[in-house]
Amino acid sequence: MGKDVIIACDFSSAADVYAFLDKFTGKKPFVKIGMELFYAEGPQIVKDIKARGHKIFLDLKLHDIPNTVKKSMAVLSRLDVDMTNLHAAGTISMMEAALEGLTRPDGTRPLLIAVTQLTSTDQERMENDLLIKEPIDKVVMHYASNAANAGLDGVVCSPLEAGKVHETCGEKFLTVTPGVRFADGDIGDQKRVMTPAEAKKIGSDYIVVGRPITAAEDPVAAYERCVAEFCD
Ligand code: C5P
Repeated sequence: MGKDVIIACDFSSAADVYAFLDKFTGKKPFVKIGMELFYAEGPQIVKDIKARGHKIFLDLKLHDIPNTVKKSMAVLSRLDVDMTNLHAAGTISMMEAALEGLTRPDGTRPLLIAVTQLTSTDQERMENDLLIKEPIDKVVMHYASNAANAGLDGVVCSPLEAGKVHETCGEKFLTVTPGVRFADGDIGDQKRVMTPAEAKKIGSDYIVVGRPITAAEDPVAAYERCVAEFCD
Protein backbone atom coordinates (compact mmCIF):
# COMPACT_ATOMS: atom_id res chain seq x y z
CA MET A 1 0.00 0.00 0.00
CA GLY A 2 1.56 3.27 -1.12
CA LYS A 3 0.87 6.77 0.05
CA ASP A 4 -1.42 8.63 -2.30
CA VAL A 5 -3.07 12.00 -2.87
CA ILE A 6 -6.87 11.83 -3.24
CA ILE A 7 -8.49 14.81 -4.99
CA ALA A 8 -11.85 15.80 -3.43
CA CYS A 9 -14.00 16.34 -6.52
CA ASP A 10 -16.58 18.55 -4.83
CA PHE A 11 -18.44 19.50 -8.00
CA SER A 12 -22.21 19.57 -8.45
CA SER A 13 -22.46 18.18 -11.99
CA ALA A 14 -20.89 15.64 -14.31
CA ALA A 15 -20.00 18.42 -16.75
CA ASP A 16 -17.96 20.26 -14.11
CA VAL A 17 -16.11 17.16 -12.90
CA TYR A 18 -15.24 16.09 -16.46
CA ALA A 19 -14.03 19.58 -17.36
CA PHE A 20 -11.74 19.28 -14.33
CA LEU A 21 -10.54 15.70 -14.97
CA ASP A 22 -9.91 16.40 -18.67
CA LYS A 23 -7.05 18.68 -17.61
CA PHE A 24 -5.14 15.62 -16.39
CA THR A 25 -4.01 14.28 -19.76
CA GLY A 26 -2.28 10.95 -19.26
CA LYS A 27 -2.61 11.03 -15.45
CA LYS A 28 -5.33 9.28 -13.48
CA PRO A 29 -5.43 10.70 -9.95
CA PHE A 30 -7.29 8.92 -7.12
CA VAL A 31 -10.52 10.93 -6.71
CA LYS A 32 -13.08 11.35 -3.94
CA ILE A 33 -16.74 11.52 -4.94
CA GLY A 34 -18.93 12.94 -2.20
CA MET A 35 -22.62 13.26 -1.52
CA GLU A 36 -23.17 16.36 -3.67
CA LEU A 37 -21.96 14.82 -6.93
CA PHE A 38 -23.40 11.37 -6.16
CA TYR A 39 -26.86 12.71 -5.34
CA ALA A 40 -26.80 15.00 -8.38
CA GLU A 41 -25.70 12.40 -10.91
CA GLY A 42 -26.42 9.00 -9.35
CA PRO A 43 -24.31 5.81 -9.53
CA GLN A 44 -23.57 6.32 -13.23
CA ILE A 45 -21.04 9.05 -12.38
CA VAL A 46 -19.06 6.51 -10.35
CA LYS A 47 -19.11 3.97 -13.19
CA ASP A 48 -18.06 6.61 -15.74
CA ILE A 49 -15.14 7.96 -13.68
CA LYS A 50 -14.02 4.40 -12.93
CA ALA A 51 -14.19 3.60 -16.65
CA ARG A 52 -11.84 6.55 -17.27
CA GLY A 53 -9.28 4.71 -15.15
CA HIS A 54 -9.41 6.56 -11.83
CA LYS A 55 -9.39 4.98 -8.37
CA ILE A 56 -12.43 6.15 -6.41
CA PHE A 57 -13.06 6.94 -2.75
CA LEU A 58 -16.88 7.08 -2.47
CA ASP A 59 -17.50 9.34 0.51
CA LEU A 60 -21.15 8.76 1.46
CA LYS A 61 -20.69 8.25 5.24
CA LEU A 62 -23.33 5.59 5.82
CA HIS A 63 -25.06 5.43 9.22
CA ASP A 64 -28.20 3.28 9.67
CA ILE A 65 -29.25 -0.04 11.17
CA PRO A 66 -26.76 -2.86 10.44
CA ASN A 67 -29.00 -4.69 7.96
CA THR A 68 -29.64 -1.59 5.87
CA VAL A 69 -25.95 -0.64 5.85
CA LYS A 70 -24.95 -4.20 4.90
CA LYS A 71 -27.29 -4.22 1.89
CA SER A 72 -26.33 -0.71 0.82
CA MET A 73 -22.61 -1.54 1.03
CA ALA A 74 -23.21 -4.55 -1.24
CA VAL A 75 -24.62 -2.14 -3.84
CA LEU A 76 -21.66 0.25 -3.49
CA SER A 77 -19.20 -2.63 -3.74
CA ARG A 78 -20.70 -3.61 -7.10
CA LEU A 79 -19.82 -0.12 -8.36
CA ASP A 80 -16.21 -1.29 -8.06
CA VAL A 81 -15.05 1.63 -5.90
CA ASP A 82 -11.65 1.37 -4.18
CA MET A 83 -12.54 2.97 -0.85
CA THR A 84 -15.76 3.94 0.94
CA ASN A 85 -16.81 5.00 4.42
CA LEU A 86 -19.34 5.08 7.25
CA HIS A 87 -19.84 6.68 10.67
CA ALA A 88 -18.20 4.78 13.53
CA ALA A 89 -21.06 6.13 15.69
CA GLY A 90 -23.25 3.48 14.03
CA THR A 91 -21.65 0.93 16.43
CA ILE A 92 -19.34 -2.07 16.01
CA SER A 93 -22.26 -4.27 14.85
CA MET A 94 -23.04 -1.83 12.07
CA MET A 95 -19.37 -1.71 10.99
CA GLU A 96 -19.15 -5.53 10.96
CA ALA A 97 -22.33 -5.75 8.90
CA ALA A 98 -20.92 -3.15 6.50
CA LEU A 99 -17.79 -5.25 5.94
CA GLU A 100 -19.91 -8.32 5.23
CA GLY A 101 -21.99 -6.42 2.71
CA LEU A 102 -18.93 -4.93 1.06
CA THR A 103 -17.14 -8.25 0.53
CA ARG A 104 -17.62 -9.51 -3.04
CA PRO A 105 -18.25 -13.17 -3.89
CA ASP A 106 -14.55 -13.53 -4.85
CA GLY A 107 -13.47 -12.30 -1.39
CA THR A 108 -12.20 -8.88 -2.55
CA ARG A 109 -13.67 -5.62 -1.26
CA PRO A 110 -13.08 -1.87 -1.28
CA LEU A 111 -11.17 -0.38 1.67
CA LEU A 112 -13.59 0.62 4.44
CA ILE A 113 -12.79 3.73 6.46
CA ALA A 114 -14.67 5.13 9.47
CA VAL A 115 -15.51 8.73 10.27
CA THR A 116 -14.98 9.25 14.02
CA GLN A 117 -16.27 12.66 15.13
CA LEU A 118 -16.69 15.12 12.29
CA THR A 119 -14.27 18.04 12.51
CA SER A 120 -17.34 20.31 12.57
CA THR A 121 -18.25 18.81 15.96
CA ASP A 122 -16.39 20.41 18.86
CA GLN A 123 -16.29 19.55 22.57
CA GLU A 124 -19.16 21.88 23.41
CA ARG A 125 -21.53 20.52 20.74
CA MET A 126 -20.60 16.96 21.62
CA GLU A 127 -21.40 17.56 25.30
CA ASN A 128 -24.54 19.65 24.81
CA ASP A 129 -26.09 18.15 21.68
CA LEU A 130 -24.93 14.53 21.94
CA LEU A 131 -24.56 14.25 25.75
CA ILE A 132 -21.06 12.78 25.33
CA LYS A 133 -19.06 14.12 28.28
CA GLU A 134 -15.62 12.58 27.60
CA PRO A 135 -12.80 14.67 26.05
CA ILE A 136 -13.15 14.72 22.26
CA ASP A 137 -9.65 13.28 21.67
CA LYS A 138 -10.56 10.27 23.79
CA VAL A 139 -13.84 9.85 21.89
CA VAL A 140 -12.03 9.99 18.53
CA MET A 141 -9.48 7.35 19.64
CA HIS A 142 -12.23 5.15 21.11
CA TYR A 143 -14.19 5.26 17.83
CA ALA A 144 -10.98 4.51 15.92
CA SER A 145 -10.37 1.47 18.18
CA ASN A 146 -13.94 0.31 17.61
CA ALA A 147 -13.37 0.56 13.86
CA ALA A 148 -10.14 -1.44 14.14
CA ASN A 149 -11.84 -4.07 16.31
CA ALA A 150 -14.65 -4.38 13.78
CA GLY A 151 -12.01 -5.15 11.12
CA LEU A 152 -12.11 -1.86 9.22
CA ASP A 153 -9.06 -0.60 7.38
CA GLY A 154 -8.74 2.87 8.89
CA VAL A 155 -10.28 6.22 9.75
CA VAL A 156 -10.73 9.66 8.29
CA CYS A 157 -9.03 12.03 10.71
CA SER A 158 -7.15 15.29 10.99
CA PRO A 159 -3.46 14.92 10.04
CA LEU A 160 -2.83 16.13 13.61
CA GLU A 161 -4.47 12.93 14.91
CA ALA A 162 -2.77 10.51 12.48
CA GLY A 163 0.21 9.73 14.73
CA LYS A 164 -1.97 8.99 17.76
CA VAL A 165 -4.33 6.82 15.67
CA HIS A 166 -1.37 4.73 14.51
CA GLU A 167 -0.14 4.43 18.12
CA THR A 168 -3.57 3.29 19.27
CA CYS A 169 -4.64 1.08 16.35
CA GLY A 170 -1.35 -0.01 14.78
CA GLU A 171 0.85 1.22 11.95
CA LYS A 172 -1.12 -0.68 9.33
CA PHE A 173 -4.41 0.99 10.26
CA LEU A 174 -4.91 3.64 7.59
CA THR A 175 -5.25 7.36 8.25
CA VAL A 176 -7.01 9.31 5.52
CA THR A 177 -6.55 12.99 6.24
CA PRO A 178 -8.28 16.09 4.85
CA GLY A 179 -7.42 19.61 6.04
CA VAL A 180 -4.32 19.91 3.84
CA ARG A 181 -3.03 23.25 2.57
CA PHE A 182 0.16 24.48 0.91
CA ALA A 183 2.42 26.54 3.16
CA ASP A 184 1.81 29.60 0.95
CA GLY A 185 -1.92 28.89 0.28
CA ASP A 186 -5.32 30.06 1.52
CA ILE A 187 -6.69 27.98 4.40
CA GLY A 188 -10.33 28.89 3.60
CA ASP A 189 -12.83 27.45 6.12
CA GLN A 190 -10.49 24.70 7.39
CA LYS A 191 -9.33 25.40 10.95
CA ARG A 192 -6.48 23.02 11.69
CA VAL A 193 -4.38 22.45 8.59
CA MET A 194 -1.09 20.85 7.59
CA THR A 195 1.03 20.94 4.45
CA PRO A 196 1.38 17.73 2.40
CA ALA A 197 5.00 17.44 3.59
CA GLU A 198 3.95 17.73 7.26
CA ALA A 199 1.16 15.18 6.73
CA LYS A 200 3.75 12.79 5.30
CA LYS A 201 6.06 13.33 8.26
CA ILE A 202 3.33 12.67 10.79
CA GLY A 203 2.37 9.42 9.06
CA SER A 204 -0.82 10.06 7.08
CA ASP A 205 -1.42 7.28 4.57
CA TYR A 206 -3.65 9.25 2.20
CA ILE A 207 -4.25 12.99 2.03
CA VAL A 208 -7.59 14.28 0.73
CA VAL A 209 -7.08 17.61 -1.03
CA GLY A 210 -9.91 19.67 -2.51
CA ARG A 211 -9.73 23.39 -3.17
CA PRO A 212 -5.91 23.73 -3.14
CA ILE A 213 -6.11 21.63 -6.35
CA THR A 214 -9.63 22.18 -7.74
CA ALA A 215 -9.51 25.98 -7.35
CA ALA A 216 -5.87 26.38 -8.41
CA GLU A 217 -5.02 28.33 -11.54
CA ASP A 218 -3.12 25.24 -12.71
CA PRO A 219 -4.76 22.20 -11.04
CA VAL A 220 -2.35 19.70 -12.61
CA ALA A 221 0.67 21.59 -11.27
CA ALA A 222 -1.00 21.84 -7.82
CA TYR A 223 -1.69 18.08 -7.85
CA GLU A 224 1.89 17.34 -8.86
CA ARG A 225 3.16 19.59 -6.08
CA CYS A 226 1.07 17.60 -3.57
CA VAL A 227 2.40 14.31 -4.93
CA ALA A 228 5.99 15.58 -4.82
CA GLU A 229 5.62 16.78 -1.20
CA PHE A 230 3.61 13.81 0.08
CA CYS A 231 4.58 10.72 -1.91
CA ASP A 232 8.16 11.19 -3.12
O1 C5P B 1 -11.34 21.81 -0.24
P1 C5P B 1 -10.78 21.04 0.92
O2 C5P B 1 -9.33 20.63 0.71
O3 C5P B 1 -11.03 21.72 2.24
O4 C5P B 1 -11.63 19.69 0.89
C1 C5P B 1 -11.49 18.70 1.87
C2 C5P B 1 -12.44 17.57 1.58
O5 C5P B 1 -12.41 16.68 2.69
C3 C5P B 1 -13.91 17.98 1.43
O6 C5P B 1 -14.52 17.07 0.50
C4 C5P B 1 -14.48 17.81 2.81
O7 C5P B 1 -15.85 17.53 2.79
C5 C5P B 1 -13.69 16.59 3.31
N1 C5P B 1 -13.58 16.47 4.76
C6 C5P B 1 -13.02 17.46 5.57
N2 C5P B 1 -12.94 17.28 6.92
C7 C5P B 1 -13.42 16.16 7.47
C8 C5P B 1 -13.98 15.16 6.69
C9 C5P B 1 -14.04 15.36 5.31
O8 C5P B 1 -12.59 18.49 5.07
N3 C5P B 1 -13.29 15.98 8.77
